[in-house]
Amino acid sequence: MGSSPLVAANQSNIFAQGVGEQPAEIPAFEDHLFRHFAFCLFGGSLRNLGAMRVLTGIQPSGALHLGNYFGAMLPAIGLQEQGEAYYFIADYHSMTSLTDAAKRRQYTLDVALDWLAAGLNPDRCVFWKQSDTPEHTELAWLLSTVTPMGLLERCHSYKDKVAKLADGDVGAVNHGLFAYPVLMAADILLYDTQVVPVGKDQKQHLEVTRDIAIKFNHIYGDTFVIPEPRIQETVAVVPGTDGQKMSKSYGNTLELSGDEKSLRKRVMSIQMDSRSPADPKPDADKNIAIQLLRLVAPPEVAADWENRLRAGGVGYGDLKKGLFEEYWKHFAAFRERRAELASRPDEVREILRAGAVKARAKAQKTLTRAKQACGLD
Ligand code: ADP
Ligand code: TRP
Repeated sequence: MGSSPLVAANQSNIFAQGVGEQPAEIPAFEDHLFRHFAFCLFGGSLRNLGAMRVLTGIQPSGALHLGNYFGAMLPAIGLQEQGEAYYFIADYHSMTSLTDAAKRRQYTLDVALDWLAAGLNPDRCVFWKQSDTPEHTELAWLLSTVTPMGLLERCHSYKDKVAKLADGDVGAVNHGLFAYPVLMAADILLYDTQVVPVGKDQKQHLEVTRDIAIKFNHIYGDTFVIPEPRIQETVAVVPGTDGQKMSKSYGNTLELSGDEKSLRKRVMSIQMDSRSPADPKPDADKNIAIQLLRLVAPPEVAADWENRLRAGGVGYGDLKKGLFEEYWKHFAAFRERRAELASRPDEVREILRAGAVKARAKAQKTLTRAKQACGLD
């Protein structure tokens, strides 16, 4: 295994140099005076003091899709070159919705393969699986004691789930789902994160994280950096085949990996209206296939489809076939890299294990700081 390029590259850089030991590292937070000074000057964001610390997570609750890719993964991959990046597989979070152990194991490996094939570079970031850093759950408890119930009751993730249940039966919602934003706050605060690249659907969770951090700092003294979301407005919400937000939980996704036949079928299932091909479509920009083409096709190709649809004379079947061709082409290199990585799963697991060692060192420091702040030391 040691001779493989993936792990060898990983070892030669991430272990030896270590993301945490980059020269532009933010000074350790142990120094209370520094902390106080920094919080006063920069409102807790420490933006100008060194390498920007970036973090994001994706749940292994199903196959990753275009929404994940354009909303979170690509922006995160871009940021790994600009700062100190922490990217993790949120397997604790997936427990709020998925109860099949074998599937969780499989999806965890799948998510790792998707991230790596998409361009995540383990030499440039810390990449690991959340449950290998149990500090997240301990910090979540500390944070939960300063989190008002009302804050969580207002969260869409919980409210939407309740709204879908017969008679709004809250008893059928597990506590994990209700408390999920607190665990997410712990994920973020443990790494002194400044920037969190996410899709628009996570904006509210980021606001909750900020509220919790500010409240904790107010009660126990400056302890946590206040993070900011980084939402790519152009791809804020990628639509699914039914026009709702594309999501693993809605069965409306176009996956990053999968076989040609089933992906083609998914594309052909995209919902359209009943207007005839000859009709001009002045609202062509609202068409789901056009919105997706803008993501996967060269701009002039997407603009050409849009103009032709607007003018009339293009059938929806042809439009969807055109979308499939572009989508398939766009991810050709991705599929190749993924297949190659998938033939070496042990190396991928080794990358995650090594990442967890690095993540844990950072997490333990912050947890100790938080415990000291509230008298648990
Ligand atoms: P899902 O809703 O499919 O379960 P996750 O909740 O695991 O997706 O989201 C992982 C990341 O991908 C988050 O940052 C989320 O904001 C982003 N994301 C998910 N779906 C979309 C979408 N349709 N458009 C833009 N970003 C998305
Ligand atoms: N809640 C995110 C989602 O469902 C996943 C997630 C968990 C996350 N912890 C995080 C994202 C921390 C960003 C930062 O999409």
